[in-house]
Amino acid sequence: MTAAQRRLISRARRARARAVAPFSGFAVGAAVETTQGRIYTGCNIENASYGLTLCAERVALFKALSEGQRAFKRLAVVADTDRLTPPCGACRQIIWEFCGDAEIILANLKGKVAVHRMRTLLPRPFDASLL
Ligand code: THU
Repeated sequence: MTAAQRRLISRARRARARAVAPFSGFAVGAAVETTQGRIYTGCNIENASYGLTLCAERVALFKALSEGQRAFKRLAVVADTDRLTPPCGACRQIIWEFCGDAEIILANLKGKVAVHRMRTLLPRPFDASLL
């Protein structure tokens, strides 16, 4: 594990503490790092309609995009699960389109960590190159 990976996990873990998850009770934190080394964080945000829930990954990434960031190298996801929590299908699509084959770091609160690449999490992706 590199220092950059450790730092990103720690930022995602801190963001997780701000999760708005009264319906599922499942708190998730995410942090995305730009190619310049800036970090943007997010937590999952639920509401009474359930279906309008936003995952931590998309909150982090949309915050960064809305601040003008366009190039990313890695994204960390932290949840309190023994089996590490990966991005859902919707998030994989968004992460692929905006981060390409970025490094995806999964971690839990006990210090378990795994590192993946988007390409392996989303094989044969649909994206703008097909339009
Ligand atoms: N969730 C995330 O925020 N990220 C993931 O990677 C998996 C799921 C959220 C959505 C919902 O608020 C809760 O976790 C349970 O699905």
